[in-house]
Amino acid sequence: MFSPAKVNLLLAVTGRRPDGFHELISLVSPVSFGDELEISLVDAEGGLDFSCADPSVPAGDENLVVKAARAFLEVTGSRQGLSIRLDKRIPLEAGLGGGSGNAATTLLLLNALFAEPLSPKDLGRLAAELGSDCPLFLERAPVVMRGRGEVIERLPAPLIAQLTRRELAIFKPSIGISTPWAYQQLARDKAYANAASVEAKVNRWKAGARSLESLMENSFEAPIFRKFPAFPLLFADIRSALGLSCLVSGSGSGCLVLLEDPGQVDPLRALVESAFGSAGFFEVCRIYSDAF
Ligand code: C5P
Repeated sequence: MFSPAKVNLLLAVTGRRPDGFHELISLVSPVSFGDELEISLVDAEGGLDFSCADPSVPAGDENLVVKAARAFLEVTGSRQGLSIRLDKRIPLEAGLGGGSGNAATTLLLLNALFAEPLSPKDLGRLAAELGSDCPLFLERAPVVMRGRGEVIERLPAPLIAQLTRRELAIFKPSIGISTPWAYQQLARDKAYANAASVEAKVNRWKAGARSLESLMENSFEAPIFRKFPAFPLLFADIRSALGLSCLVSGSGSGCLVLLEDPGQVDPLRALVESAFGSAGFFEVCRIYSDAF
């Protein structure tokens, strides 16, 4: 089963909660680039065998696919043996949701293989326990997420159809950024977005009164730009040479650029390589939805 990456087209962190997590408002979407996950049922009580050719992916119990599979078996009271194979393409520490997407896809795939013992609500609860970015991947379409990531608002079909026509480039330098580090910087600076004005912006976009480009913002850009000045320099070059909108995705170090025509891909790749070097990651993909 295809296990998509995600991009945050808007990510506003609006405050810190008493439990240490942060409140956010995010327009977030799967993209047509991602990993491939295969699960087969093996002998009952055959244990859980996980394999991935990429040595940088942890293969033990800390892997989110393994955690998701164990949580699913526990909740459904099953001792079924499973063999899981992950073909990893999404870079790690990129803000592209690689691990979270794999975990949510594991839950969806197992629920289908076991003839749907869990309701969408059960799956949502299980996904939220695995990680803040897991529930969004259960929809397999663009959504607005709130809370710490567990409150998911579906979008109307015409808006999803419009979004899936958008092509984008996703790229990252060879360095990764740790999510806890990025949140710590925001907490230290108390640099939170104003929830009411972000909600007003989202509502105007939903009503067709604002473009997607004008919605794009990410609270993590301030600390990331401060620590890694190559990001704002590259974004300024992309804006002035190609007139395109750029944004950091999630807590970085992955970025996205919304494309307007295919002729922009080569000059964009050249700008990215001149800033980040050729060891980085660069892909062209689309906003993804299972329904379109
Ligand atoms: O939920 P997840 O394991 O992905 O979160 C990783 C870390 O990111 C948390 O330990 C927390 O420090 C931070 N986080 C947060 N608020 C969120 C999501 C994540 O503070 N909404």
